[in-house]
Amino acid sequence: MTRPTSAQGGPPGIALPDLTPGEALAARAASAPLLRWFASAKRALPWRDVVDPFAIWVSEVMLQQTRVETVLARWGPFLARFPTVEALARADEEDVRAAWSGLGYYRRARALHEAARRVVAEHGGRVPADPGAFAALPGVGRYTAGAVLSIAFGARLPVVDGNVTRVLARRFALEGDLTRAAARRKLWALAAASLADAPPGDVNQALMELGATVCRPRAPRCDACPVAEGCAARALGAQDRLPAPARAREVPVVRRASLLVERADGAFLLVQRPPGGLLGALWELPSRELEPGDERPARAAAALARGLGVRGRPAARGEAVHAFTHRTWAIATFRASGEGVSAPPGARWVSARDLASLGVPTATLRALAAAGAAL
Ligand code: ADE
Repeated sequence: MTRPTSAQGGPPGIALPDLTPGEALAARAASAPLLRWFASAKRALPWRDVVDPFAIWVSEVMLQQTRVETVLARWGPFLARFPTVEALARADEEDVRAAWSGLGYYRRARALHEAARRVVAEHGGRVPADPGAFAALPGVGRYTAGAVLSIAFGARLPVVDGNVTRVLARRFALEGDLTRAAARRKLWALAAASLADAPPGDVNQALMELGATVCRPRAPRCDACPVAEGCAARALGAQDRLPAPARAREVPVVRRASLLVERADGAFLLVQRPPGGLLGALWELPSRELEPGDERPARAAAALARGLGVRGRPAARGEAVHAFTHRTWAIATFRASGEGVSAPPGARWVSARDLASLGVPTATLRALAAAGAAL
């Protein structure tokens, strides 16, 4: 028997790689009830009212790892500032960082900016509809390619994100660690089979929406689910147990001391981080990382203050905590007078009003608040 080698759907009854015929059929059968449900229950989100591939692309990049509520506040302003691929390609890096503030994971913004330049240079400013060309752009992985091309161009490409993973894991009672390669292949094959003959952008969004609003991580609303009847987890009473939680990774806690050096006019010092790496080129309070086991943030703050020419001892203020995926910062904040202090190279005096036009990470906004800055 020949087996299709791509995960692009296929006629009913023919197993996709990694799927039994029963699984392929069950996945296909869900598309009609899913689409009916989506038509009536979907949230009114502004990026659902646009057809411009660039605007859809921006929404999908923002929605990766950032909550819908946050994206709702940032998507419109970002597009008002950079309405086209050309406008983004032309933009200053500093302006892009500023427009991305609060969304976190700035590497995504850098990649999107670089991708926009490539679209202008190599595709005449038009977002390429060809999956190979689009997926070759910086920051575009299988999820982004599937989401953008299916929604914007109707391409028959699946998506698998956290929400889709949960929906499919429950519907097909997938046990075990879903981060393993074999499980990922199965999930992508199930997502591809779910497209059936229906509009792929709508099926993809319906699966994601179901995961976000009904098939929630905790307390799933099975009574409101359009595909509850075919749900294996529900039949087994396992909807609260599946999917099995991913093995918790040890996330190190990194302790930092940050110093709010404030003048009488309310301006405070920010320094720019080095261009590469974590929060590259963003602006933050003068800070020091404490050595593991060093519980003396006051000493680090005093050393920072001396280095900046601050007179007097910094006063301890509150602690701010910021969790990245791979580490957590616990930031002990201090405050000192900026009278007579001049900004060293790489630093500048900033007022609360300037924050909107600079790339300032959320961790720094939290530290500013903990330090008692008037924002
Ligand atoms: N999550 C990310 N993109 C989404 C979309 N287009 N619809 C629903 N949820 C999403």
